[in-house]
Formats: sequence, structure tokens, C-alpha cells
Amino acid sequence: MTGRRLVVGITGASGAVYGVRLLQRARVLGLETHLVVTPAGVLNAHHELGLDRKALDALADASYAPADVGACVASGSFDTAAMVVAPCSMKTLAAVAHGFGDNLLTRAADVTLKERRPLLLMVRETPFNLAHLRNMTAVTEMGGIVFPPLPAFYNKPTSIDELVDDTVERVLALLGMTGARPKAWGGLRG
Ligand SMILES: Cc1cc2nc3c(=O)[nH]c(=O)nc-3n(C[C@H](O)[C@H](O)[C@H](O)COP(=O)(O)O)c2cc1C
Repeated sequence: MTGRRLVVGITGASGAVYGVRLLQRARVLGLETHLVVTPAGVLNAHHELGLDRKALDALADASYAPADVGACVASGSFDTAAMVVAPCSMKTLAAVAHGFGDNLLTRAADVTLKERRPLLLMVRETPFNLAHLRNMTAVTEMGGIVFPPLPAFYNKPTSIDELVDDTVERVLALLGMTGARPKAWGGLRG
């Protein structure tokens, strides 16, 4: 199962829906999900979606408290395919960029990088300051993937759900998850 094991972090950046749709789609694809939601992540998920921690936890196969730094995902010996932080705040980005594993989410991200496994951060802020940009560069230099959830309008989406789902599908495909089918650009005619 290890090749289908996905660690998911949800932080307090805007866009909790990305984490939720990622977990829902991962379940459809038969992935085993391990979830860590920060306190600010719970706050935002409640504000944006009306979901509490229990409802978020129910979307994953296993979930852990951010303070539980003794959980399995805190160790590289627990084999995983990849980790996604959806959405990723600038605070968590900074922690990852500096190897600062102060909670289970940032520790799991640190472990993912040290084990040279794919780490994808769906960073969300606008505009960026220099610290944000430098931290994104640092994560990229370490092999992480900085993937701001910027919608593609060329597929002519007709709803916010469609925009979100398109982005989530691209994330899963980028991580090589079997079954993920992002819309392919067919080219312009005429
Ligand atoms: C409604 C709301 C929206 C927020 N949106 C963002 C955001 O888009 N990006 C960001 O970096 N922080 C955002 N924040 C601030 C973070 O939640 C805050 O920096 C928090 O400490 C992040 O902690 P975490 O990374 O442990 O979840 C927002 C906060 C609130 C209350």
C-alpha cells in the first residue's frame, strides 16, 4: 500500500476547499490518506466551509493532532508516496523552508524532504513579500514543489467547484497518482 499512501496537511491559509476536495478525490482513487490539520486550518475550514475538526478527520483514513509529534508520519521509516499541504500558509511555508518542525505537519514535511519524497505545497497568499518568495525558492531548491492553486481559465470552467477540482486533479497527476486525469489542452483551432 505504501505507493498509495498520501500525507495531507491543511493549514490556515484561505482555500480549505482544496484540502477537502483532495481528500475526497484521494478516497475515490483508493489512496490511503494521513491527515494533519493545524489549529488555524480548523478555524479557516469552519469559516469557509462550516466544517469542524471531526468532519475534516472523517475525510481521511487516519488523522493526527498537530501536537502529536510522535505519530507515524513524523518518521521517515513510515513509508509514504508523497505529501501535499493544501492550502499552505506563509507561516508553514517558512517553517518548511527552514527545516523548523515545530508541529506534526511541519515535521512530516521535513521528513518528506529528507527522504527525497515528493512534497507539494499549495501556497496561498497575495501579493507576496520577499520572505515568501525566498522561502518558495528555498523549498524548490530542496526538491519541493511550489504549486499555488491558480485557476486555469482556458478550459472555460463554469463553476468554482470545477476550478477547484481541475487544480486538485493536476496536483494528483503531478504526483503520479494512478487514475488522476487532469483535463488536457487540446490546442486552439482556426
Ligand atoms: C480568514 C483567514 C484567512 C487567512 N488567509 C491566509 C492566506 O491566504 N495565506 C496565509 O499565509 N495566511 C492566511 N491567514 C493567516 C494564517 O492562518 C496564520 O498565519 C496562521 O498562523 C497560519 O498557521 P498554520 O500555518 O499553522 O496553519 C488567514 C487567516 C484567517 C483567519
